[in-house]
Amino acid sequence: MALTPPRIVTLTLNPAVDFVSTAPALGATHKIRTHDEHVDPGGGGVNVARVVHALGGETLAVFAAGGVTGRFLGELLQEAGVPYHCVPIAGRTRVSFTVREETTGREYRFVPEGPALSDAEWRCALAALPAVAGEYVVASGSLPREVPVGIYAEAARLAASRGQAFVLDTSGEALRAALGHGITLLKPSLRELETLVGRALPDPAAQEAEALALVHAGAARMVVVTLGMAGAILASETGILRRPAPEAEVHSAVGAGDAFLAAMVLALARGAAPEEALDWGLAAGAVAIAGIGTARVERSAVEHGYNALRASRAARPAQ
Ligand SMILES: Nc1ncnc2c1ncn2[C@@H]1O[C@H](COP(=O)(O)OP(=O)(O)OP(=O)(O)O)[C@@H](O)[C@H]1O
Ligand SMILES: [Mg+2]
Repeated sequence: MALTPPRIVTLTLNPAVDFVSTAPALGATHKIRTHDEHVDPGGGGVNVARVVHALGGETLAVFAAGGVTGRFLGELLQEAGVPYHCVPIAGRTRVSFTVREETTGREYRFVPEGPALSDAEWRCALAALPAVAGEYVVASGSLPREVPVGIYAEAARLAASRGQAFVLDTSGEALRAALGHGITLLKPSLRELETLVGRALPDPAAQEAEALALVHAGAARMVVVTLGMAGAILASETGILRRPAPEAEVHSAVGAGDAFLAAMVLALARGAAPEEALDWGLAAGAVAIAGIGTARVERSAVEHGYNALRASRAARPAQ
């Protein structure tokens, strides 16, 4: 057994400062007064690190950030007690803005593209990975402008060469380019899987077939497809698992996928079986959507949700 707990290193090339607020109703032209403002450190890997930390895991968030907003991001992480390593860039880190419309409960999410990274900057971010120890590397989020689409493939190869497990949550060309380069766990949402395979997948059997096909083609060792309120499926060499999402009040879906992934990876890193890790992911996803703000989860709520899920499975083993 390892003497130190496993560490989960995350990589975020395009992080954000996430503002969330609420307005009675949205409409053009007139000022929209908002209230109940929250600000969180954001971006895929940053969220994963925050949730791993909240769940009592060891983590390090590696990200590329710059400007006053980059320093703001660092300050927010410091406040949250999340260990991080910032690769400085010349551009200013983006600010994402989500507004909840009270009358409808709808969420409007504005996500800027963020600063471009120079060659030297993205190379520095990549070079930061081998410089830190960790059993898992989780690369998550969109690529900044001017970063080559093959960067996650390179990160996957680097991780594999160091004996680290590599987890990827991204979309589009960056996702496609990384397949087959040593991915331990791939987490597309259903939308991302549909884009990858080039067709809509409304049929559960087709979703499962496509996830399994990725495993069989060697694209990744495990593929977990998150299905929003329908839960998730996990494809591996041993077959397919499909799990519904536990009932949860929906307040904000921002970062639900990141919370799901963080809890699942932490469970795997601690030696859980894949089906247990899947339940940890579902429990964390449910807690994340019940809260306001980005991927805010409390450890006790996730543990409670996980125990409830396991108890319900034990009561209905045929599912
Ligand atoms: N409306 C919902 N009701 C219950 N659980 C949900 C809901 N939305 C999300 N979840 C939980 O969060 C997990 C991740 O959500 P989702 O599939 O939307 O992924 P995502 O990565 O946030 O999506 P995307 O990257 O496409 O925005 C789901 O598998 C589920 O466990
Ligand atoms: Mg996602």
